[in-house]
Amino acid sequence: MTNVLLLGAGFTAQERARLTGAFDTVSAAQADDLAAIDAATRAGIKAVAFKGHLPLGAAIMDQLPGLGVIANFGVGYDAIDVTAASERGIKVTNTPDVLNDDVADLAVAMLLAQSRNMIVAEARARSGLWAAEGELPLNRKASGSSVGIVGLGRIGREIADRLAAFKMDIHYSSRSEKQTPGWTYHSDVVSLATAVDFLVIALVGGKETEKHVSAEAIAALGPRGVVINISRGTTVDEAALLEALESGAIAGAGLDVFLNEPNIDPRFAALENVVLQPHQGSGTVETRTAMAVLQHDNIAAFLSGQDLLTPVN
Ligand code: 8YV
Repeated sequence: MTNVLLLGAGFTAQERARLTGAFDTVSAAQADDLAAIDAATRAGIKAVAFKGHLPLGAAIMDQLPGLGVIANFGVGYDAIDVTAASERGIKVTNTPDVLNDDVADLAVAMLLAQSRNMIVAEARARSGLWAAEGELPLNRKASGSSVGIVGLGRIGREIADRLAAFKMDIHYSSRSEKQTPGWTYHSDVVSLATAVDFLVIALVGGKETEKHVSAEAIAALGPRGVVINISRGTTVDEAALLEALESGAIAGAGLDVFLNEPNIDPRFAALENVVLQPHQGSGTVETRTAMAVLQHDNIAAFLSGQDLLTPVN
C-alpha cells in the first residue's frame, strides 16, 4: 500500500529513485497537486519526503490524516510549520551535519571571490580586455582581516575554523557565549558588525531570525563592510542590503540565499560589487547523496518503528 509521499518539485532522478526503490510512493510537485491524489491513497500516507522551500503547513498536513513523519531534505526546516506538526503528533526530521563542510566552503569561496573581485577579473582574462585595457584596480586583502560570524552553530563553527586558518580575527554573535578561546563574543549583531569588515550570516531561518541582520547592523559595517549570506534570505533586511550595496554604504556582498528564490530581485544583477550564487551551498554530489540517504533512513526508521535519526520536534 502506498505509504510515502514525495512532496516537492526539486528531487533529482537519483534522489527520487532512492525513495521509490525503497518505499511504495506517490508524488506531488506542490501542495495544489495533493487534491489530485484520491482520498484513500492520501489516508494511507504515513511519511512525507519533503524537498524545497515552499511552505508546508497545517492545510497540507490535514489532507494526510495518517501522516506520522515529515522528513525534510535539508538542515533548514523553516518552510515546515513544526508547531502545527507537533500539535498533530507528526514528527519532523532534517539533515544536519552532513552538509556543514560544503556550506562552509561556499561561504569562504564567496568571501574570497568578493574581496578579490574574481567575477569581474575572470571576465577580463577570458574576454581579451586584459590585453586591451591592462590590469584591474588593486583588490583588498582578505587574510588577516576581521570577520564576524552571525550564529555560531554547526555551520558557523566550520566557517570560523576555516577563516581562522586565513589568520582572520574571529568575532561572533550567538544566543550564548561559546568555549572559543581567542574569539570575541558579541551579544548583539550591531556591536558585531561595528567590530568587523566581513559579516558572515550562518543563522537558522524562520520567524525568530527574520531581518536579524537589520538596517542598523548593515550601516554599522561601514564602507569597507562585506556581507556574506549562506543561511536564508529572510535573515537579513534585504531592502536595506540592496540600498547599502547601491549607495556604497557597504563595499559588497556574497550571497547564496535571497527572498523569493529563484525569482530574485533584479536589482542584484545590476551590481558589480556582489557575488551571486543560486542557493547551492549543499550542492555537491557527495553531500546531496548523504542528505538523500539521511532522509531515506529517517523514513525507514519511522516505518519500522525505530528511533528517528535526526528528529527536530
Ligand atoms: C536545501 C538548504 O535543502 O539544507 C538546507 O537548509 O537550504 C539546502 O541544502 C537544498 O537546496 C534542497 O532544497
